[in-house]
Amino acid sequence: MQVDSILKSYARYAPVYDHTFGWLLSFRGRSMAAGVANKRPGEILEVGVGTGISLAYYRKEHRVYGVDISPHMLARAKKRVAQKQLAQVASLEIMDAREMSFADNTFDSVVAAYVMSVVPEPRKVICEIERVCKPGGNVIIVNHFAAEKGLRRTVERMLAPLSDKIGWRADMRLDEILANTSMREVKRYKLPPLGMFTMLHLKK
Ligand SMILES: C[S@@+](CC[C@H](N)C(=O)[O-])C[C@H]1O[C@@H](n2cnc3c(N)ncnc32)[C@H](O)[C@@H]1O
Repeated sequence: MQVDSILKSYARYAPVYDHTFGWLLSFRGRSMAAGVANKRPGEILEVGVGTGISLAYYRKEHRVYGVDISPHMLARAKKRVAQKQLAQVASLEIMDAREMSFADNTFDSVVAAYVMSVVPEPRKVICEIERVCKPGGNVIIVNHFAAEKGLRRTVERMLAPLSDKIGWRADMRLDEILANTSMREVKRYKLPPLGMFTMLHLKK
């Protein structure tokens, strides 16, 4: 994935995102991820916050920070926060998840929903997420991960060369995350539709 194509894709998707991808990509994943983060009071970071579709799921007693590389997506998130008066949102900033400006060990929980197969270098992103999470904090990744075999694997392989055009990688493997972090896996949940998405709960 190239940054230019990500920026172009999300400038195009931003006006329609909530009614297309926002709706297609399981809401259950977003609410479950926020549910895990909500269990530990404090500072929550949402990486690739997009149009802020998950922000209302975080409880009011937290302070939520959102970052995204796309100004078009972030503008929508800011509008949503103002319209819905989401007092738990402390800031929304343009930032590249590969190199975040937050200090080490800042956040109690870090959430990345439907982001890892969109970012240019997922390995760098998981390292950054680990760096900014406090020891004992939660990291919750929701994503589509490549199937091991079968028809889905064949389709994902066919889609792989189109990644830059469609704005996401269909063939991202879960091992790519686990191999690049020393965080401990707490649990893995399959999500609808048809278990095509996964919520991965890690602890630093
Ligand atoms: C599929 S959207 C997911 C948005 C939101 N998390 C959701 O649940 O709908 C992926 C988001 O990741 C953002 N993104 C892609 N590369 C990024 C990067 N390097 N740093 C930060 N955000 C990035 C995109 O701009 C987009 O808003």
